[in-house]
Amino acid sequence: MDLTQQAHGHALKGRDLVELTDYTTEEIQYLLDLAIELKRKQNTKEIFRPLEGKTLGMIFEKSSTRTRVSFEVGMFQLGGHALFLSKNDIQLGRGETIADTAGVLSRYLDGIMIRTFGHENVTELAKYADIPVINALSDLGHPCQVLADLQTIQEHKGALRGKKLAYVGDGNNMAHSLLLGGVKMGMDVSIASPEGYESDAEIVRQAQEIASETGSKIAIVRDAREAVENADAVYTDVWASMGFEEEQKVREQAFKDYQVNEELVSGAKADYLFLHCLPAHRGEEVSAGVIDGRNSVIFDEAENRLHAQKAVMATLMA
Ligand code: CP
Ligand code: NVA
Repeated sequence: MDLTQQAHGHALKGRDLVELTDYTTEEIQYLLDLAIELKRKQNTKEIFRPLEGKTLGMIFEKSSTRTRVSFEVGMFQLGGHALFLSKNDIQLGRGETIADTAGVLSRYLDGIMIRTFGHENVTELAKYADIPVINALSDLGHPCQVLADLQTIQEHKGALRGKKLAYVGDGNNMAHSLLLGGVKMGMDVSIASPEGYESDAEIVRQAQEIASETGSKIAIVRDAREAVENADAVYTDVWASMGFEEEQKVREQAFKDYQVNEELVSGAKADYLFLHCLPAHRGEEVSAGVIDGRNSVIFDEAENRLHAQKAVMATLMA
């Protein structure tokens, strides 16, 4: 890393990660390059323990496989310790305020990771905590997943700028963070969603503002084929996110023309990448042939959660 890159890392120390829009293009690129470097270190068993003696608290209000395991393992590999704090087991679940929780946890911990429903829970925690707060998924965004996704695309395609990312399905937290993170890195982003399930208008407005600076093109469309046309990367996510399970049947109807299958991806570039944050439902948002096919990079993405989050923690919490 040269001095300019180190300066980007230095500027991130002590900051929160609520959404990727918190950071400049150069700061995100710094984190992606560091993630790739930390992956190399891990693969060659090179010791890197900048967080010795430090502790991350992990507040979970929703289920998780990847996020919990990758943050906990990541903290361990960086020489620190991670504490799993289920909302049901801490006083937050019995009405203690976020402000008081933030004040108390700031006296014990060096960083807090939170997975929650309302995005305002993340922003409030970040406001009241004296230590870095990392958004590990809210109803509005999932920036840690997108860092891992951008790392995966960079590794497979060599660069992000000018590449076309197509997202098909629910205009949800994943769609939001992919749109914001993608345009921040100069990618063209197309999103196809059915009526009533479009992305948040304010997020799209923010993305358009960023795109006018980075030169990215944004297309918010109804037709999945149009979104996928000539794409370098095709992304989808579940039709019913956590918290929306009771809408499963209604959503299966609404999303029936939005399955990423062999026919749909025939419009993408021949060497397109298939991405999915996981967990996935084969036969719903994606066909087994696509998710288990040769263009799928789902396990690289899942692995990169570890490396990308180690880059974030080592930078914010060191
Ligand atoms: N992609 C993701 O965040 O997975 P988990 O819900 O298993 O953490
Ligand atoms: N949109 C999904 C992402 C899971 C990682 C959800 O919020 O459930």
